[in-house]
Amino acid sequence: MRLQVKNLRKTYKKPFSKKPPFEAVRGVNFEIKPGEIYSLIGPNGAGKSTIIKMIAGLIVPTSGEILFDGARLGYDTSAYKKLSAVLEGTRNVYWRLTPLENLHYFANLRGLSTSAIREKAVQLLKTLDIEAKKKNQSQHLSRGMLQKLALGAALITDPEIILLDEPTLGLDVESSRKIKDIMIELAKKQNRSILLTTHQMDLVEEMADRAGIIREGQIVREGTMPQLRAVFQNQIYRFTVRGSYKLPKEWVKAYGAKILSEQSDHTEWEMDCKSSKAVYQILSELGKGKIEILSMHKPVEDLEEIFIRTLKENGNGENK
Ligand SMILES: Nc1ncnc2c1ncn2[C@@H]1O[C@H](COP(=O)(O)OP(=O)(O)O)[C@@H](O)[C@H]1O
Ligand SMILES: [Mg+2]
Repeated sequence: MRLQVKNLRKTYKKPFSKKPPFEAVRGVNFEIKPGEIYSLIGPNGAGKSTIIKMIAGLIVPTSGEILFDGARLGYDTSAYKKLSAVLEGTRNVYWRLTPLENLHYFANLRGLSTSAIREKAVQLLKTLDIEAKKKNQSQHLSRGMLQKLALGAALITDPEIILLDEPTLGLDVESSRKIKDIMIELAKKQNRSILLTTHQMDLVEEMADRAGIIREGQIVREGTMPQLRAVFQNQIYRFTVRGSYKLPKEWVKAYGAKILSEQSDHTEWEMDCKSSKAVYQILSELGKGKIEILSMHKPVEDLEEIFIRTLKENGNGENK
């Protein structure tokens, strides 16, 4: 199913408070096609969880539209059966039930009979590597196990749209890996639409087809990974050389060379060389001076760097 979010807004009003209402989400637009993994990335307080909860129908948007295959839905509609969410920081499963009971409970709650999911539940626990503990109460499971079980509870209904809020935050490497693999399988082999929020860039780089960088309730930049990289794409290089090194004045003028760190054993700077020809000239200049290059790289190849630069362009980062 295709998910579209159009001009979505959420203003939190505090009852009995004289404080002005707070605009947590300020006109957000994006679309996720079947088979696509879309990630919202942004600092704490940017509005990511609020967006997930509005799409999941858990909080009411102040304005805007959420469309499933082009149709706007009321909260009583059956299309919500095709959507599942794993929320962050909440108990997504019942601790006193075993993992298997949890899967049955959530399936029943959402209108699926016990017999319809009997085999699937066992299979799902196996896929998630939690079969061995299926007879234990879920409260004894590790954080990673609980998160995988929450994913299981979300997947038992075979959803076409899957919303995941910070799915691998604070998890052990193995559980994160598992969750990533399952998400990729769901999108790429089973054509599901997946919305993922995170502030872990490695997760986005590995999984997302497209990402939106969100800050103070607005998407300030969006695109595929190559598109996001291309935004700052030019010839920005970061050099580190041995010893203390004084930048030639022409570099400062022509390429905006800027010292990032200067110590007795090394000097690091960044510059936009503008053309590859200039890169070679700079290298030859360093060569003439017998300057030892310790490293040289293009920082904007990293999503992390793109993220930081985007937030800098649009303000100073953290909300509030
Ligand atoms: N129920 C609420 N009432 C008032 N303000 C809220 C509520 N929930 C979230 N907020 C505020 O809205 C902003 C966005 O929060 P949230 O959507 O949780 O951001 P994120 O998930 O990106 O960290 C934050 O400033 C948060 O304090
Ligand atoms: Mg959040």
